[in-house]
Amino acid sequence: MKSTLLLAACCCMTLLAGSRGASAHETLRDAAGDRFLVGAAIAPAILNDPAQRAMLVKHFSSITGENAFKPDQVQPKPGTFTFAEADRIAAFATQNKQVLIGHTLLWHQQTAKWMFEAPDGSPLPREQGLANLRAHINTVVGRYRGQVHGWDVVNEALDDGEPYLRQTPALRSIGDDYILRAFEFARLADPDVQLYYNDYNIELPHKRAKAIRLLRELKAAGARVDAVGIQGHWSLSSPDVQTVDDAVAAFKAEGLRVHITELDVDVLPRATVTADIAAGGNAILSPADNPYVDGLPTAVQTRLAERYAALFRVFLKHDDAIERVTFWGPSDGWSWLNSWPTKGRTNHPLLFDRQFKPKPAFDAVMGVLREGGERATP
Ligand code: XIL
Repeated sequence: MKSTLLLAACCCMTLLAGSRGASAHETLRDAAGDRFLVGAAIAPAILNDPAQRAMLVKHFSSITGENAFKPDQVQPKPGTFTFAEADRIAAFATQNKQVLIGHTLLWHQQTAKWMFEAPDGSPLPREQGLANLRAHINTVVGRYRGQVHGWDVVNEALDDGEPYLRQTPALRSIGDDYILRAFEFARLADPDVQLYYNDYNIELPHKRAKAIRLLRELKAAGARVDAVGIQGHWSLSSPDVQTVDDAVAAFKAEGLRVHITELDVDVLPRATVTADIAAGGNAILSPADNPYVDGLPTAVQTRLAERYAALFRVFLKHDDAIERVTFWGPSDGWSWLNSWPTKGRTNHPLLFDRQFKPKPAFDAVMGVLREGGERATP
């Protein structure tokens, strides 16, 4: 498994290391070696800048489109497909032999209403919803066959509260089996592509139990799910690393591969800690919520570095299950956490600052990767 996933990325890494005459372990991807891929989510605009392109190739062995592959981006109107932005990202990753991740085929956000709802807001009849889902997945997965290594087939289907499944437009139209059907359609569209279930807070016990239930049900129904994606939108203090450790171990015990798919560490205060972007609409920015406009104070840089080091120790410990760690953005200036859950924040959640300079958190992660960390006994 690991060898196939890492082969393309490793070849490229060796070539690059050779051509610049650098010592090994100078970059994130080199330091991670064959233990897991290190990815970044990107917007196409970053590709306009040669320096930033070079930085993406230097440090990251995997690329995810931050928004470009989402349903409303690629099929805004029924049967009208707009692939220019996704194509740009796919071409970049392919050209640089980076492992391309497709995000996402089905989500309750960033999906045009027509897919599962009538103009009056009522759910489409099941057969219509299924036909729309099938057509979308066929076309999108089919287009990137041979380019996308794996798809987040379904994103965020679990409810945050008591109920099991989130009430989504797809569920209301198709029924509870919409998740299973999405996995089936994706597999039919490209039998070789990897298929992932992706969600946030599934490291927390109450939601983790639901994720395990869902993944067991999918398996029992004959679906193939190659990995579970833990998004990893975390803060300086939450969740504690033991919770992450326990969650990875629990998914591993289910026979699943684990991807950390959207890693960032929010350093700003927040009224709510949910990563459900729907909460964004209600949030109001106050100066107290945005204290680091002029840069991150040393003490907080240090906390961020320690937090990342602790997380990467857990990832290394479970490198037999973790195939990929992707940051949700290449550097602080590109992070969605500058505008979520409130607009106008100056956030510092990643390893590189606004000038693409490595932060103390970068050095801390490199230190942990170089040490190699402890390995869990199988
Ligand atoms: C976010 C993007 O980063 C933003 O640019 C966009 O405005 C909203 O979506 N969970 C996910 C990602 O699965 O797709 C979200 O990405 C962040 C939360």
